[in-house]
Amino acid sequence: MLGGGSNLVIADGGWPGLVVRIAIGGISSPATNDAAGNAVLFSVGAGVDWDDFVAQAVAQNCAGVECLSGIPGSVGGTPVQNVGAYGQEVSGTIESVRALDLKEDRIVVLPKPACGFRYRASIFNTTERGRYIILRVNYRLKRGGAASLKYADLQKHFAERFPEPVAGKKTPPSLAEVREAVRAIRRSKGMLLVAGDADCRSAGSFFKNPVLDEAQFKDLAARAAAQGLEIPSYPALDAQRKVSAAWLVEHSGFCKGYARGAAGISHKHALALINRGDAKASDIVGLKDEIQHGVQEAWGILLAPEPVFVGF
Ligand code: EPU
Repeated sequence: MLGGGSNLVIADGGWPGLVVRIAIGGISSPATNDAAGNAVLFSVGAGVDWDDFVAQAVAQNCAGVECLSGIPGSVGGTPVQNVGAYGQEVSGTIESVRALDLKEDRIVVLPKPACGFRYRASIFNTTERGRYIILRVNYRLKRGGAASLKYADLQKHFAERFPEPVAGKKTPPSLAEVREAVRAIRRSKGMLLVAGDADCRSAGSFFKNPVLDEAQFKDLAARAAAQGLEIPSYPALDAQRKVSAAWLVEHSGFCKGYARGAAGISHKHALALINRGDAKASDIVGLKDEIQHGVQEAWGILLAPEPVFVGF
């Protein structure tokens, strides 16, 4: 079952069977579902291009997905790995998921709590992998809502553009301005598909940011400190810490722009493994193995890949 195909590594031998690409379209005319008229429900076909939906939501002044601008792939893929970037995750706006349940052979509507969303995970890529074919996703957005500006890179972007509040008043950036800022930041990090730019020919972040418990994090931070280094980290659920996989890669002997034959690391972001020309899947997997091995040797952490591997 293929969505947008942007997060896949397909084996050189291909896939020995039928491939179905989900092309269910349609973005429903928004339905308002609260008394104040601010919450707007969008029912979006699984085959709709994700960024087209984000563009439409922003054009209709509906907040909730503006920070997820410029992500390649289709709508049906977004609940699977709980797509997230720049301070938003789709779990923040998904109301329910309509899916074909292959186990029960019927169409079901799974409300958000049934989807089991976590960092880059849901029931669809963990406990119930392979059970559901996602048909539509229902998002609850907020008309006239303020744009989310939680992520440091975004705050920095706007602070640089508008250093001085005009007459003590700073109008917050509009949804459209945040969308453009996110696209610009993604572009600078090689995380926006730009024709002809080899640095963005990737599956996005190839490794997840490891989530460590307190003891593991303390140990890692102490080992970094012993080398005069500080590892970037963020709070995660249940007193855990999420640490930067990109930092680990760069501090294990791999620089941005590192090349291994036709495969390599982007010049713009250490997590983007790129096809520098005619790389085969085996070249990408070889580079992935080398990086995992290097990080494991240096820091004792096994980086988990984020893309889905098909036919291996
Ligand atoms: N960093 C480096 N080297 C780099 C890039 C980043 O050391 O080449 C360090 C920096 O300290 C930086 C920190 O890592 O401050 C965080 O970097 P960044 O803001 O680029 O975020 P990330 O953790 O590397 C995650 C997601 C991205 C998402 C961005 C923005 C994962 C695995 N990746 O990247 O998602 O766009 O945050 O929210 O969670 C994707 O999943 O495919 C993806 C691109």
